[in-house]
Amino acid sequence: MTTVLEARDVTMRFGDVVALDGLSLAVAQGEFVVVVGASGCGKSTLLNLFAGFEAPTRGEVLLHGARIADIEPRCGMVFQNYALFEWLTVAQNIGFGPRMRGRADPQRVADLLRLIGIEDFADHYPAQLSGGMKQRVALARTLANEPEVLLCDEPFAALDAMTRQVLQQELSRIVQHEKRTCVFITHSIDEALLLADRIVVMSARPGRVKQVLDNDLPRPRTADVQLSEYFLDRKRAIWESVQEEVLTSLVRAP
Ligand SMILES: Nc1ncnc2c1ncn2[C@@H]1O[C@H](COP(=O)(O)OP(=O)(O)OP(=O)(O)O)[C@@H](O)[C@H]1O
Ligand SMILES: [Mg+2]
Repeated sequence: MTTVLEARDVTMRFGDVVALDGLSLAVAQGEFVVVVGASGCGKSTLLNLFAGFEAPTRGEVLLHGARIADIEPRCGMVFQNYALFEWLTVAQNIGFGPRMRGRADPQRVADLLRLIGIEDFADHYPAQLSGGMKQRVALARTLANEPEVLLCDEPFAALDAMTRQVLQQELSRIVQHEKRTCVFITHSIDEALLLADRIVVMSARPGRVKQVLDNDLPRPRTADVQLSEYFLDRKRAIWESVQEEVLTSLVRAP
């Protein structure tokens, strides 16, 4: 098992606020890790550190053993709010990163359009698309940069339940097809169980790893799997673990 991405005893402070306190987590090549935890426990902070947007106050964040602060960041992020370029078409959005690096690849753009099921929308502008379609474009745009690790910060949180379920299945398929390594944040335990190889429950702020669960539910994780006794038992156990932390964070909130 090769470790791609690792947080080693990471502490992150923002002034008086300790967002993360001695958090350690290693992500293996090809692994799909889902992080759940109470609001404000430091999930986005952890992802921002993995992306190299920020440096930790203490501890190390490593990509293939090299400190992310010392190298060109090579992880790609998908956000809840799409963050598309409104003045570019779908195809131009997807091709943007490689083009900026002087490595335009129209064939890869065409392949991604097809892989993500948006080939009929190549010449549309983001404003003409539904939320679900926008998130497909955002995902394709991130994949076009060939990230070492795909980082997803609640990408489906703003979508309706049905669109969300379709995109969960699609993401699972695409990540397996492209053999991607993925760290995904969600508030939905169902989503965590549908997507994850491993589920990380974080403690209330300051964030640490509270619990790590292997998720060996068989794939594809269809509606039947979601109704199985095994799924529901897992869901209950994770919910209890998260709920404890949610209550702690509510008591502590100002
Ligand atoms: N740039 C910043 N400056 C100051 N405080 C910050 C900054 N970023 C995060 N924080 C604080 O760090 C803590 C963790 O924030 P973070 O956004 O990582 O939580 P989260 O788990 O992603 O929450 P949510 O589930 O609501 O998205 C919060 O108390 C937040 O206010
Ligand atoms: Mg967040």
